[in-house]
This record gives sequence, C-alpha cells and structure tokens, in this order.
Amino acid sequence: MKNLVSMKELSTDQILSILNQTKAFHDGTSSTLRNNYMVSNLFFEPSTRTKMSFEMAERKLNLEVLPFDAGFSSTLKGETLYDTVKVLESIGLDVLVIRHEQNNYFEELVGKVKPVIINGGDGTGNHPTQSLLDIYTIWQEFGTLQNKVITIVGDISHSRVARSNADALTRLGAQVRFVCPPEWQGEFEAFNNFDEVIEDSDVLMMLRVQHERHDGKTIFSKEQYHQAYGLTLEREKKMNKSAIIMHPAPFNRDVEIATELVECNRSRIFKQMENGVFVRMAVIEMILKGRE
Ligand code: CP
Repeated sequence: MKNLVSMKELSTDQILSILNQTKAFHDGTSSTLRNNYMVSNLFFEPSTRTKMSFEMAERKLNLEVLPFDAGFSSTLKGETLYDTVKVLESIGLDVLVIRHEQNNYFEELVGKVKPVIINGGDGTGNHPTQSLLDIYTIWQEFGTLQNKVITIVGDISHSRVARSNADALTRLGAQVRFVCPPEWQGEFEAFNNFDEVIEDSDVLMMLRVQHERHDGKTIFSKEQYHQAYGLTLEREKKMNKSAIIMHPAPFNRDVEIATELVECNRSRIFKQMENGVFVRMAVIEMILKGRE
C-alpha cells in the first residue's frame, strides 16, 4: 500500500492487517518507524473528527506535523490542488492527508507526486479511514463481521461513508442493507420503510442528513424525518438485545437519532471516534513502513 484513497484498492487481507495493527496500537504498542517524517493535513472541507484524529495519530507516531490552513492558503488566489501539493512536496512533506469537496480529487495526484496521499474524504465519493474505523468498531464488538447484519440508514446518495462501507463490509462477510427515502437512494437498492429492518439488525449505522449537499432543497421537516427515518426511542426498544448503534458524526440530534440515544448503552458513537486514532496510526505506519 503506497497511498490510501479508497477502500476498493485494499484487499481483504490488507484490511485484516490494518485491524490487527489497530488493535496492537489500541493495546499500547508503540510505533517502530525508524525515520523522521513530515506530515500535513490539508482540509478544504470542514472537519472536527477526521482532522483532529489524524493529528493525534501523527503525534502518537512521533511525526512532525506542519499546520495547513486552507482558508489562508494560496488556493484562495487560484492555486490548484495539484500545484499546492507540488509546493508541499518541494519543501519536504512526506505525507499529505487531504479532504476536498471534489470527488476523486486524488486521481490527479496519485502516481504523479512524491508525498503519500491519504484521503480524508472526497465529496460524496470515499472516506476510507472512516470505513476502517467503522469496521474495527464492529469487529471489536462482535469478534467477526461474518454474517453480521448491518443496516445503514439515511442520506445514502450523498454519503461517502455509505459508499466506502458498502463494498468493504460485504467483502468481510457482512450483510449490508440500506434504508432511506427514495429521493436519497442514488445507485443503491434500499428499503424505504425503516421499521421493517430493525429487529434483525446487528448494527444500525445512522447517517447525517447532509443539508450542505442538497442544493437548498428540503423534502422533510426535522420532525418528519425523525419520525420516518430517525432512530427514535420507540425504534430503539425494537432492536435486538446485542445490537449496537453507530453514526460517523457529526450527528443532528433529534433528526437522525434521538438525543437520549446518543450516549445510551448501545451507542458506539464515541467509541468510533476513539478507535479512529488507532486506525489512522495503523494506516500511516503501514504505508511509511513500506517506504523504509
Ligand atoms: N466523521 C467525520 O468525517 O467527521 P468530520 O467531518 O468532523 O471529520
């Protein structure tokens, strides 16, 4: 693995290696990287979790982190992403974590620039480290993904998380189902009635309603959405005893999920965030070790 831009480029064995290395870091193993590396996190779309989690992972790996502020960069003067990356290559950056609103932005970079490119999210396309931390969280919970029924609910067509998880979870043996309003179905086959699929789900993975990608169109009030597709207190009562609740976050309280359920016993939402640090350590270390 030389870069990580989408889940599709990872073999099942590579995903399992990342899970094992994630667990090792989670259990307290230290990094064995031999060289000093310089890394920068280029976030052209807002982020709290992914950006801070990458920075924590990089610091735990003893990498040097150079701050990059997209809002004060020369991209505002028209410098392209490719030229920005060439600048950072020229001054000696080894690893660039990039989030960008353009789907597949990485195609103009991978194989053409020297720094490692790790995708922190591209438009509605891919979010591979979110997918890996979701997979790790399910694996941590159940010890396997084989035959687990994972129901992904919400704004599917705008979700890079759904897209990244769909293929990877299926390859690992899980049964993945989607639930959403017909308007947000995109290329996926989906159930339109959430209540049909609650009882036999092992995981309910709720997705954020991404208002910023809806071009100002509103098809539901918050209350209407919550009643039709949200995880309400009534729906939680129908969940299987051992089933868990996940959400990549940020979450809209009382829209995708009742506020009382955000930190309930079934919720793994903050566990997902904790796990993200160790997953990102594992990804960065595996790529850099390949270079040593
Ligand atoms: N889950 C996720 O990608 O969150 P951020 O947008 O805060 O990074």
